[in-house]
Amino acid sequence: MAESMKGLKRTHRCGELSAANIGEEVTVMGWVQKQRNKGGIIFVDLRDRAGLLQVIFEESDCGAENFAKAEKLRSEFVVAVVGKVLKREGAANENLATGEIEVRATQVRILSEAETPPFPVEADSKTKEELRLKYRYLDLRRPDLQSNLMLRSKITTTIRSHLSEQGFLEIETPILCKSTPEGARDYLVPSRVHPGHFYALPQSPQIFKQLLMCSGYDRYFQIAKCFRDEDLRADRQPEFTQVDMEMSFVDVDDVIGYTEEMVAKVCKEAIGLEVQLPIQRMTWQDAMDRFGSDKPDTRFGMELVNVSEVVKDCEFGVFTGALAAGGSVRGINVKGQAAMPRKKIDALIEFAKGYGAKGLAYLAVQEDGTYKSSFAKFMTEDQLKALVEAMDGQAGDLLFFAADKNSIVWSVLGALRIEVAKQLDMIDNSKFNFLWVTEFPLLEWSEDDNRYVAMHHPFTMPMDEDIQYLDSDPGRVRAKAYDIVLNGVELGGGSVRIFQNDVQEKMFEILGFTKEQAYNQFGFLLNAFKYGVPPHAGLAIGLDRFVMLLVKADNIREVIAFPKVKDASCLMTEAPGTVAEAQLEELYLELAPMEVATEE
Ligand code: AMO
Ligand code: AMP
Repeated sequence: MAESMKGLKRTHRCGELSAANIGEEVTVMGWVQKQRNKGGIIFVDLRDRAGLLQVIFEESDCGAENFAKAEKLRSEFVVAVVGKVLKREGAANENLATGEIEVRATQVRILSEAETPPFPVEADSKTKEELRLKYRYLDLRRPDLQSNLMLRSKITTTIRSHLSEQGFLEIETPILCKSTPEGARDYLVPSRVHPGHFYALPQSPQIFKQLLMCSGYDRYFQIAKCFRDEDLRADRQPEFTQVDMEMSFVDVDDVIGYTEEMVAKVCKEAIGLEVQLPIQRMTWQDAMDRFGSDKPDTRFGMELVNVSEVVKDCEFGVFTGALAAGGSVRGINVKGQAAMPRKKIDALIEFAKGYGAKGLAYLAVQEDGTYKSSFAKFMTEDQLKALVEAMDGQAGDLLFFAADKNSIVWSVLGALRIEVAKQLDMIDNSKFNFLWVTEFPLLEWSEDDNRYVAMHHPFTMPMDEDIQYLDSDPGRVRAKAYDIVLNGVELGGGSVRIFQNDVQEKMFEILGFTKEQAYNQFGFLLNAFKYGVPPHAGLAIGLDRFVMLLVKADNIREVIAFPKVKDASCLMTEAPGTVAEAQLEELYLELAPMEVATEE
């Protein structure tokens, strides 16, 4: 039978008590972590979000009735305890913040009994994640998740206070929207009042924040929920949170400046990390050339080297063929790994194929100066020497080469570099390497659609010096777009926006929109621009990713209270679910036969 807490008021959280409270009478409330009955004395570890506290029951302190209740306590019972804080008898427990003290109970009330939970509520859970997510409300009691979510709360509080001090206004934008332009698939919500019409959930507040600039709010931010129906990965959720910002009368450097100050403040407040400002910047071109990635992990070297010039006259058809087709040959040098077993090399070649490589050439520089290689026979001694030299190769090194069009060479070697570094334990996990990647290409050629698509989004401003190529050579136009990267993860991104209607219309034209389509989808923005628009720019940080990296979690789900799994479902609520026929009718919806509905 549950008792009431009438007449009792909690005085402290369990984990907040310390030696400073010795001698005080306290009332604590929480969950029983563990009860140990040693005959005449009962030890109870009591838990709340602040931590664990040892409570001791002896009949001489609390009387027979309370002692009998203490005997009944089991894990996850919710209790209120009144008692006195004493210095712990016996050795202090150094693993516990409250390890120097204990509470001698004079009274206990069982506020709620509990069934045996399906898994133990404890840190570093070995429980399968599916089970944890099904009982997320229990999982969320575990101290590691509690500390992640408490840190997340601290981070949002820091962001709010920092940005408002900087003159940013927090303004909410709608969730029921028209389609927004981030390029993922929309989540749609049918309208009851307008049969056959649908709202789209925002992929980001992009258009609204630009409109707010048109309306003169000048510095905006929002901790905004965004929705994208895309394939999920360890750092992606279908709904996630952005720290979304937009500013007027600014250029690239201003946005970068405000953002890095905020990021540095958060790192300091959240985990005591000093971020050295300004954060290093690298152009997209350099990032690709050196790391094969637009989000380089700079915690280790093993950079890519372009050896196209060195191998152009050799007899190896794979290399010369790629060059003739306009591609390149590049390599990485895995230091000291010349003796890597063939089986491991073959596994890396297979890994590379997963990123579109047709193959991967390798050359091991033996200690005696000879080579073990898949292509040495096609090269002269001099050519090999020049190649090894270009790669800064020494005896004992293992060199890998990819030959193909640039985009494939980059993605293959970029991924291989990370994979090899992980396998060889080359990454220093104590580091937090921030990096700005700037001057992204404005457009990207889509083989699927046979047209250019916006690399960031269609409102991104071309770089002044490249505007002249918009018609003649759109592929070479760079954008005033920037990403902030942390340890090889894209933390956030943004751009300076187009604010001239003629440039915006040109952009839509290049992206294959007719004027009609452009006005149909984004007319309100284009119209707003006709009534006085300030130059503006902004950026959004992925909050979930930021918290994930700061707590060194390897999955975004560890910092989201109620996350979804890979197939975008919630294992606890079992969303998405079916709805009643009547609801569908009300919405004028009819389900198509399932074969059609699930067709990709
Ligand atoms: P972008 O699409 O680059 O830019 O998104 C900004 C940041 O949001 C995070 N993010 C995600 N996090 C978790 N799950 C996802 N599915 C997901 N998708 C994106 C990333 C990313 O860097 N409106 C523009 C910003 C701007 O131009 O101001 C935008 O949304 O950390
Ligand atoms: P092949 O001529 O296809 O038998 O390949 C000869 C060697 O070159 C093998 O070791 C392949 O793995 C390697 N190779 C094939 N295609 C490529 C490529 N695009 N880039 C680098 N190496 C390759």
